Amino acid sequence: MSSGSNPESSSSSQLFSAESYFATQPSPPALDADVTGVRTFIARQAKAGRRVVLVTSGGTTVPLELNVVRFLDNFSAGTRGATSAEYFLSAGYAVIFLHRQHSLQPYSRHYSHSTNPFLDFLELEQIAEPQAASLTLSSQTSSPEPIITVRSSDPKHLHTVLSAYKAVHRAGTLHTMTFVTVNEYLWLLRAVSKELNVLGRNAMYYLAAAVSDFFLPREKMSEHKIQSGKGSLIIEMDQVPKILKSMVDEWTPEGFIVSFKLETDSSLLVPKARAALERYGHQVVIGNELHRRKFEVVFVARSAPPSPEHNRDCLEDASSQIEETWLRIDEQIAGAGKEIEEDIIYELVRRHSLWTRSQIRV
Ligand code: PMT
Repeated sequence: MSSGSNPESSSSSQLFSAESYFATQPSPPALDADVTGVRTFIARQAKAGRRVVLVTSGGTTVPLELNVVRFLDNFSAGTRGATSAEYFLSAGYAVIFLHRQHSLQPYSRHYSHSTNPFLDFLELEQIAEPQAASLTLSSQTSSPEPIITVRSSDPKHLHTVLSAYKAVHRAGTLHTMTFVTVNEYLWLLRAVSKELNVLGRNAMYYLAAAVSDFFLPREKMSEHKIQSGKGSLIIEMDQVPKILKSMVDEWTPEGFIVSFKLETDSSLLVPKARAALERYGHQVVIGNELHRRKFEVVFVARSAPPSPEHNRDCLEDASSQIEETWLRIDEQIAGAGKEIEEDIIYELVRRHSLWTRSQIRV
């Protein structure tokens, strides 16, 4: 980074491998506690014979200062991840939901942020008798305090969401973890992948988070707020190592790995998704174009996906068998509440089942 006011910064960039990245960039302070928590969760799910999916969700930030005032962000509200997590849970999976702090979360997403603000559903009433309605939050009759009543315009929907949320909590099948920066994300992704590796093929990875391709190594960051007095600011960022490669080859070689490819130029979507599949050798790339992502996605996968035993030398030959499958939903149906994630997860569960049982065509 260079600006007249930050002489301590350097302008040389280096190419980080995953190994050199983790050797030089600091781990998050809570990493050990996070690992202990997720290990306990995975052990419980393994005992119950459940499959586990890691869902990553939301955008990663790249801070520009150590005492951070400014940062770069990646686009993502967390809708894809939070919605998908719900469908995985209802399909019987246990979910590790690794998400950007304050982004959308499963179940609460229906009533958080600007969508259906929850406070709009609450009424204060000065009544002596408790409401008969099942959604009354307090049954105090003698209190002078007003009771709070929920008045949803769609109580059936609220009831469905609340029931599913409570059932998941009772079953203990949802474990949430948070990140803000791309550095936290990478450390957590590596740690969770290594823990989940004990489940072998019963683990799925659904990488919907929007991960920054560039970052500022700690040694190049300004300690204090970058000053603006001396003209323009030039920042030279280093490339974030492609962690998918490490996931496939080292951290979780048996896992069923699904990555997302986001493009704004739709003509690049399929070629880039195919290239990612060929480069990393994982199981599925889901391509989505920014503005059409709620209505259509393309699955890019090998007709016979590589198994853990697959000789990696064969990947080049296998590239000729790469297939594209489009999933589409009508925009009007989407407007009426249908979510494309329902179809995405249905298809992935089907493919994962085939993957766990055999290595035949999926
Ligand atoms: O949350 P929403 O608002 O609903 O938006 C959802 C979404 C559009 C963000 C989501 O569907 C999506 O596409 N997520 C992936 C975005 C992304 O990072 O795309 P990419 O083309 O930059 O990266 C492709 C893949 O490479 C990603 O799966 C990522 O995990 C992986 N990657 C990225 C950077 C990096 N250094 N190493 C990686 O391995």
